[in-house]
Amino acid sequence: MTAPLIDPFQRAITYLRVSVTDRCDFRCVYCMAENMQFLPKKELLTLEELDRMCSTFVKLGVEKLRITGGEPLVRRGIMTFFQSMSRHLETGALKELTLTTNGSQLEKYAKDLYAAGVRRVNVSLDTLDDEKFARVTRWGRLPQVLRGIDAAKAAGLRVKLNAVALKEFNEDELISMTQWCAENDMDLTWIEVMPMGDLGNEDRIGQYWALSELRKTLAEHYTLTDLAERTGGPARYVKLEETGQKIGFITPLTHNFCESCNRVRLTCTGELFMCLGQEDNADLRKPLRDFPNEEFQLEKAIRNAISHKPKGHDFDYSRQSISGQMTRHMSHTGG
Ligand code: 5AD
Ligand code: SF4
Repeated sequence: MTAPLIDPFQRAITYLRVSVTDRCDFRCVYCMAENMQFLPKKELLTLEELDRMCSTFVKLGVEKLRITGGEPLVRRGIMTFFQSMSRHLETGALKELTLTTNGSQLEKYAKDLYAAGVRRVNVSLDTLDDEKFARVTRWGRLPQVLRGIDAAKAAGLRVKLNAVALKEFNEDELISMTQWCAENDMDLTWIEVMPMGDLGNEDRIGQYWALSELRKTLAEHYTLTDLAERTGGPARYVKLEETGQKIGFITPLTHNFCESCNRVRLTCTGELFMCLGQEDNADLRKPLRDFPNEEFQLEKAIRNAISHKPKGHDFDYSRQSISGQMTRHMSHTGG
């Protein structure tokens, strides 16, 4: 028997988020600069290396894999990787294989994802207005994403929307987006905008909208029931009694979830981040590449990294400044 991954605070690490590319076909203002410098190919883990890495984590007790980016579905050959990961679903070692996507490629890949064992996708969508969508994503076009969502549902995938809450941008769509999701049988999660990358130098679409405020407005229109359900991450959920929907709130700037944190994040270059809010990371690419035939070296490096998982993070919005600000872009760690 392989001992499971337990960190110094007795948290079992059962959830791995994997960024498979830093590239994206959109340029969301709160996520990327318009002229991003992307990583050279040799820095990236190959699809085979990603497979070895993820399979080792599964061997060490990871039960849930979330594939992220950048935009994961723009990575060439990525469907091969999904197909290969499905073997761990078949053995039962992996309980869930899922992804977070901007939806642009779902029309093309929804069926293949379902065939590979994916049952749920999170689609990032901040607005249902064509013009605003083009403004916030810079390069994205809404109809393409809506077709992707339709294709996902037609293929049998459950779709959850993730919307970044942006004051003076999608504040006025709180109710209309909720209604639209209800009509389309989708849950909706609001994410507090994080102080990442060069946010702040951007046009005004990066503004912080406290989810406590959002929740208050929602409560004026619906009956909210708090759900006890936690996923080991920063999300809290309520049920809207009128629609039966689940609405999530992700407030990564609060500390109130660190004690139950069950996750680590792997970047597309093989760095393992033990905490979203800390720069501390471990290079897993080196043991992976140096010892192609000695899996225990990679296992040792993973165990060593987990033994350094910090208790919590340092994000904090103070009145005037953002302290604990991260210079890393979201596309690097995959959210
Ligand atoms: N703050 C909050 N969420 C962000 N994302 C990207 N950048 C930020 C940020 N600065 C989210 C996207 C998507 C996922 C890839 O990360 O909206 O849900
Ligand atoms: Fe791409 Fe998602 Fe970043 Fe937007 S938020 S640029 S869709 S990775």
